[in-house]
Amino acid sequence: MAPKLFVTGGTGYIGGTVLDTIVKSHPEYDITVLLRTIPADFSKRYPDVHIINGDYDSTDIITEAASKADVVVYNGNSDHLPPLQAIVAGLLKRSNTPSFLIHLSGTGIVADWRTPTYLGKLNPKIWNDVDDIDAITSRPEGELHQHTDTYLHEVVAKHGDKLKVAIICPPDIYGPGRGPGRTQSVYFPVFWKEIQKVGQPFYAGEGTNTRSWVHIEDLMTVYMKLIEAAVAGGKGADWGREGYYFTASQEASQIDIARETGKILKAKGRIENAEPKQLPLDTVGSMLSDLYPGLGAYMFAANSRTQAHRAKNVFGYEPKEATLWDTMEADLLACLE
Ligand SMILES: NC(=O)c1ccc[n+]([C@@H]2O[C@H](COP(=O)([O-])OP(=O)(O)OC[C@H]3O[C@@H](n4cnc5c(N)ncnc54)[C@H](OP(=O)(O)O)[C@@H]3O)[C@@H](O)[C@H]2O)c1
Repeated sequence: MAPKLFVTGGTGYIGGTVLDTIVKSHPEYDITVLLRTIPADFSKRYPDVHIINGDYDSTDIITEAASKADVVVYNGNSDHLPPLQAIVAGLLKRSNTPSFLIHLSGTGIVADWRTPTYLGKLNPKIWNDVDDIDAITSRPEGELHQHTDTYLHEVVAKHGDKLKVAIICPPDIYGPGRGPGRTQSVYFPVFWKEIQKVGQPFYAGEGTNTRSWVHIEDLMTVYMKLIEAAVAGGKGADWGREGYYFTASQEASQIDIARETGKILKAKGRIENAEPKQLPLDTVGSMLSDLYPGLGAYMFAANSRTQAHRAKNVFGYEPKEATLWDTMEADLLACLE
């Protein structure tokens, strides 16, 4: 029998690339996707993928689909609890166990955006998903993705014998997506939006605050290793309490990103002054607050430094794609279109 996968977020940047990668790597898998908006060419592109029409609050539909799946790959929204609860309810109904859930979180969980100490400055703390696993899985309330991560840690403590959970926790992601919907990541579109208001690229404080990054295709390497391990019954991967995977391949400071962005945008005639501008912390902190209060501080002034030790130990993960600096021009040009 073909392994049955239930995939969400298939029109998203990450989830769309995950879906495309699974279909191309494993045409033998029996895949069902949950879509709230079905792209016009979806069935032409993926003729063998079954579609369930619904959103993340269609919890009965999600539970039913999860109860029929060997593996669920949940690709965000990483902060919405009801679909995760519905998936867990469905997977726990299965008599054929263990079942597998691969969840998408993000390194906002360890970012220092809520404390002023290192905003606009380099924080020396680098999080390691093996040595720091206890601290990463007990982050305080209010951190990004904390409530969904915590819910899954509780599920693992209670049902870890029959439900194997892995959490993929990427840093900022760059490079073009390959899915049927959104193909751009988050950072450059929102940076460009704010640059247009300021008139030039910017940073806060010293601008040495640093975050980790990964190319979307390197992230797919970790996804596929986990999905293939789940389909094979779980061997060759860590699940449950230890099943937490950072995926970072490199770091970049805000001031270095602003400098490079300035050069590219000036060369394209989109700004006059390529020099990054220093802005007060509270100006940067109030940016993007229509999307999420504090998002400006998180995106442009915070540190979030992570290393992918577990994926290296368990899968021999060696990121090999082009660097952030190599792809920055293409990522920025995609925002200008
Ligand atoms: N991109 C990054 O750099 C990054 C890094 C680390 C973590 N993350 C986290 O990963 C998650 C996904 O990121 P992304 O960049 O792939 O986002 P995205 O492109 O916006 O994709 C989100 C996906 O979830 C679907 N979705 C959202 N709300 C839904 C709902 N209520 N019902 C049904 N479907 C819904 C979207 O469907 P529609 O197409 O119908 O809207 C889309 O398929 C986010 O929560 C983000 O915080 C992102």
